[in-house]
Amino acid sequence: MQNINARWMRAMFLAGSVMVGGMCAMTAVNTAYAGPVSEKIIVAHRGASAYLPEHTLESKALAYNMGVAYLEQDLAMTRDNELVVVHDHYLDRVTDVAEKFPDRARADGRYYVIDFDLAEIKTLNFTEGFNVVDGKRVQSYPNRFPMFTSTFKIHTFAEEIEFIQGLNRTMGKDIGLYVETKAPWFHKQEGKDISKATLEVLKKYGYTSRESNVLFQTFDYPDLKYVKDTLMPELGIDLKTVILITGNDSKETYELKDGKWEPYDFNYLLNPENFAEIAKYADGMGPAYNMLFDLKKTTKGHIVVNDLVTNAHKHGMVVHPYTVRADALPDYANNVDELYQAILIDADADGVFTDFPDLGVAFLKKHEQK
Ligand code: G3P
Ligand code: CA
Repeated sequence: MQNINARWMRAMFLAGSVMVGGMCAMTAVNTAYAGPVSEKIIVAHRGASAYLPEHTLESKALAYNMGVAYLEQDLAMTRDNELVVVHDHYLDRVTDVAEKFPDRARADGRYYVIDFDLAEIKTLNFTEGFNVVDGKRVQSYPNRFPMFTSTFKIHTFAEEIEFIQGLNRTMGKDIGLYVETKAPWFHKQEGKDISKATLEVLKKYGYTSRESNVLFQTFDYPDLKYVKDTLMPELGIDLKTVILITGNDSKETYELKDGKWEPYDFNYLLNPENFAEIAKYADGMGPAYNMLFDLKKTTKGHIVVNDLVTNAHKHGMVVHPYTVRADALPDYANNVDELYQAILIDADADGVFTDFPDLGVAFLKKHEQK
């Protein structure tokens, strides 16, 4: 399951065949691409986040020992320019910031990472995610780790790299980083370059080439182009990248157009006519897993796949959809194995992000034996 490079090389080789071979070769690619299950990977989404609060080092350690290929880091930047591992670029969903710093919310009621120094953030208690409903905290996934029990702290990106590299040494493994810069557009609006800071830390810790065990992911396609065209050459590094895709409703990314910040149109990234261009910047795609299916034809227990993965493979890109949660299955899946089957086997995705890395690893093991 760890042989990610073999899968990448297969994709690149077959993409080359398509370019010289025309339609007949394309058909062959679709069949030939379906590489061994042993080359598919499980990515621990925010760690083993179904079992311990997301992005805690404890959650990363648990996932590490579950047999994943990559541990995910989402990054935001503090007021004093430190990178911290946290999913949102605000703190209120996963900490007690509202209690400890009641006067520091912005007009929208949120407590932004960028308004706090690292030392202040380190005083917070990090917990299982919740929403505030009628003034009360309600845990988002009720059966997960109990909110505000035990003690967890937010850590820096450098601390997480040292943790994983330390584990790689003591455990004799080579588990990779799967790093996402959160909302680069927002950091730019605030005068900060989160991607540059991220790449500088990666370089400092020895992640400099396409052979380095790291994937750089982002929802911000304009920023990815800047990363590839400007930042990586300036820093003298070249890392593998993945472009993340979501629906336009999410308003996940904004781009600067004629001096105005406007929501980014993710339809561009879903149109196969653009895949050759996208592949100049991205080694892989990270769509929501729904995007792999024809939802009009899908019924419960009968998931119909579309050609997104096939088209990505034709252009040498791997596909790592997000995020499988056994405790939040879509209506059309009877159980989590049915969903893993549809994503990893039927659609032939190369890997998947999951909150339940143990179940993903077990699924692939079962299929390797078939
Ligand atoms: O980065 C892949 C997946 O994590 C994207 O979703 O919102 O959990 O970062 P999100
Ligand atoms: Ca992420």
